Amino acid sequence: MTQARITLDRDFTIGPVPRRLFGSFVEHMGRCVYTGIYEPGHPQADAQGYRRDVLELVKEMGPTVVRYPGGNFVSGYRWEDGVGPREDRPVRIDGAWHSIETNAFGLHEFVDWAKLADVEVMEAVNLGTRGVEEARSLVEYANHPSGTYWSDLRRKNGAEDPFDIKLWCLGNELDGPWQIGHKTADEYGRLAQETAKAMRLVDPSIELVAVGSSNRQMPTFGSWEHSVLTHTYSEVEYISMHAYYQEHAGDAASFLAEAVDMDEFIDGVISTIDAVKAAGKHKNQVDISFDEWNVWYQRGLETEDQPHKVAAGWKPYPRLIEDAYNVTDAVVVGTFLNSLLRHGDRVTIANQAQLVNVIAPIRSEEGGPAWRQSSFWPFARMAALASGQILRLAVDSGKVPTAKFGDVDAVDAAATWDAERGTIAVFLANRSLEESAEVELDLRGLAADRITRAEVLTIPAGGDRLTANTEDNQDAVGLTRLESVGIEDGKVRATLPKLSWAVVEIAAAAS
Ligand code: AHR
Repeated sequence: MTQARITLDRDFTIGPVPRRLFGSFVEHMGRCVYTGIYEPGHPQADAQGYRRDVLELVKEMGPTVVRYPGGNFVSGYRWEDGVGPREDRPVRIDGAWHSIETNAFGLHEFVDWAKLADVEVMEAVNLGTRGVEEARSLVEYANHPSGTYWSDLRRKNGAEDPFDIKLWCLGNELDGPWQIGHKTADEYGRLAQETAKAMRLVDPSIELVAVGSSNRQMPTFGSWEHSVLTHTYSEVEYISMHAYYQEHAGDAASFLAEAVDMDEFIDGVISTIDAVKAAGKHKNQVDISFDEWNVWYQRGLETEDQPHKVAAGWKPYPRLIEDAYNVTDAVVVGTFLNSLLRHGDRVTIANQAQLVNVIAPIRSEEGGPAWRQSSFWPFARMAALASGQILRLAVDSGKVPTAKFGDVDAVDAAATWDAERGTIAVFLANRSLEESAEVELDLRGLAADRITRAEVLTIPAGGDRLTANTEDNQDAVGLTRLESVGIEDGKVRATLPKLSWAVVEIAAAAS
């Protein structure tokens, strides 16, 4: 059995839990929108065509902010196509995903859905094929009260009140050769700077995200952030990060340790932000918006020159990248959430990509049911229970060997302390495929009273590490009670099964 000792101290804090860390992403891609959140005619659809069954699962999962409408899609999108009477909206080709976009769903529909889902809208503008003019028009359409061309058009289209969208992405992945309107860092940096200025002249209260690298392996990673921030530092609040991970050639041990890569990736971007801040003598702090992250099995999707080209015909909402997530994936997702929470002083927005069907924690079938994937659970629990202050942990854990990262901690952890609620929430993952882990939590400045919640996600009876939920077996992987947990001599002790993710909530008081 592996041993891990985790010390947490009420006074050693990283910062408050940023609520926007529990974000998600709805792209016009595959079946995320159509037959995902929106399916008029479905037995569960409401009068506007929103799927109530999906909406219930979204609310249970608890995202706080949802990015829209892309993704690669946005780099060829005309937002005007998605507003106004449906019968007048044009049908277009979506070059990014080789699909037909009917535009039956657009900005108004998304804003209305976001209200029902109780999430903040994070809107991306097209800086691939479009620029300053279309972006500032969109801000005027969305946020200006009335009495101007675009704001009055919004009112004519049925929305008297402004949408008041605060968070805006200045394009998507424009460092990537696959992106429509791919740019060099200087081309993008200047465009983002001028677009940001023009958008803020329309609404000074907005917050802006500049595009960072599409992943850590990009040949321009580092220099891209440096150049883009050199142009935009005074104009933006955030720089984005994107990362997708998968298991390669059955190397589960390395896959389970990919949060090490995520930690290093984040630390690298923080260094670049700080370097540009220092060199430019800036006073403002640019944070990170990790606005796409997840497990994504990219097999069969990549060709040499077009990583995102998919073999779909020209049809609306083709079935694209509907990965089924297993036990291993859920544990990895739990470690990614831990990495993000541990960096919550600098990563203040994060979006698991995507929300429904497309590499998503929620699945739905056209005319059929909706269900939770394994990866739903770590997100749902952390979104609900992480609150108050993020704690800086000292973790002394037994190791597991990996081919990619050498020896890594078997037990991965993050924790929060909420003085008002009087609760400590600890999020734990046991990466070991062989051994259970005995975890001891040494609480400093906090007296544990009782365990109020202890749940675990692990290999189910009769299953294995690849077991996943399916339409026919929707609850094969889920949370069960963590039995072996208790308080002894003021310390919390828990035994985590091999390959597991767990949450322990403790009622406690400052001591
Ligand atoms: O989330 C799927 C795609 O991954 C997004 O459209 C793009 O931004 C990223 O490459």
